[in-house]
Amino acid sequence: MQFSLLISVVVDAFLDMLLVAEAYPNNPAIIMVPGAFHSPQVFYKVKRQLSQVNYKFLDPVALPSVGHVVGRQSDIDAVKPGTDQHLNAGRDVVLVGNSYGCTVIGEAVEGAPGYSDSSSSALVAGAKARGRIISLIYLSGYIPTIQEVNHPETKLDIHSVSPALFKYNDDTGEVTSDGDKDLPPQKAFYNLLPPKEADYWTSKLSFSSFDALNATATYIPYAGDFEVVYVVGKQDNSVPPAWAQTFIDQPGAKFIVEHLDADHVPMLSKPEEVTDLIVKYSKPSAFVRI
Ligand SMILES: *[C@@H]1O[C@H](CO)[C@@H](O)[C@H](O)[C@H]1NC(C)=O
Repeated sequence: MQFSLLISVVVDAFLDMLLVAEAYPNNPAIIMVPGAFHSPQVFYKVKRQLSQVNYKFLDPVALPSVGHVVGRQSDIDAVKPGTDQHLNAGRDVVLVGNSYGCTVIGEAVEGAPGYSDSSSSALVAGAKARGRIISLIYLSGYIPTIQEVNHPETKLDIHSVSPALFKYNDDTGEVTSDGDKDLPPQKAFYNLLPPKEADYWTSKLSFSSFDALNATATYIPYAGDFEVVYVVGKQDNSVPPAWAQTFIDQPGAKFIVEHLDADHVPMLSKPEEVTDLIVKYSKPSAFVRI
């Protein structure tokens, strides 16, 4: 009697272990897209922390429009094939953007299967199910409005709507982030980092391509097609909370909103909090609405 009880306890524990081990591969792939001027290195802290909690597929993306004069399509093309590869392998995907990177991921998911999309979950007998996009996470998103996508003729040139820190070189098509003497990148992007670290990341900035930044978006993912989380940085000097709120308050926008005590690049200043949010919103159950 006691012996068989012991056996069953051991067997149960063993099965639990198997279940836990099996849960790890179910973590989605995380695609991470930085903002204008930035390299994907800014995700290194978050990438390390995600790998410590058993995320295996972690893809920071280098935007071609950072350091090269190219259009927005090049940026979208840097995100889409990698996303499709995971989906085709049956793996779910979360896309994380920072600032202009949110514009890019928003365009890249057009046509991809979302979680609320029941048609795409239909299992064809014998065929392997495609993965789905679980969520898009906008960290301090600098994004197109519904109005400018529906009425492109109303979209303004970014010369007139960009933050004062954007400096335009109209001859070369390059935009840099040192246009505001009172708000250098150390304050515009990294105001919560220690000064030395803020200087380091400032030294890593490059120019962005005007054509990529000024392009008119063609698709809005946050009006119902996908689960989109907007993360507002309470101490963000580039897309301050009041500006972020104008994106959130648009008629037809369906964001899940989170607030972090963060600056414009929270992956560097608040990596643990960002990691927690990615973990939270990489579970489809986070979006069950009652
Ligand atoms: C920037 O975008 C605006 C609005 O879409 C457009 O009218 C303008 O021509 C663009 N600027 C340049 C220099 O291409």
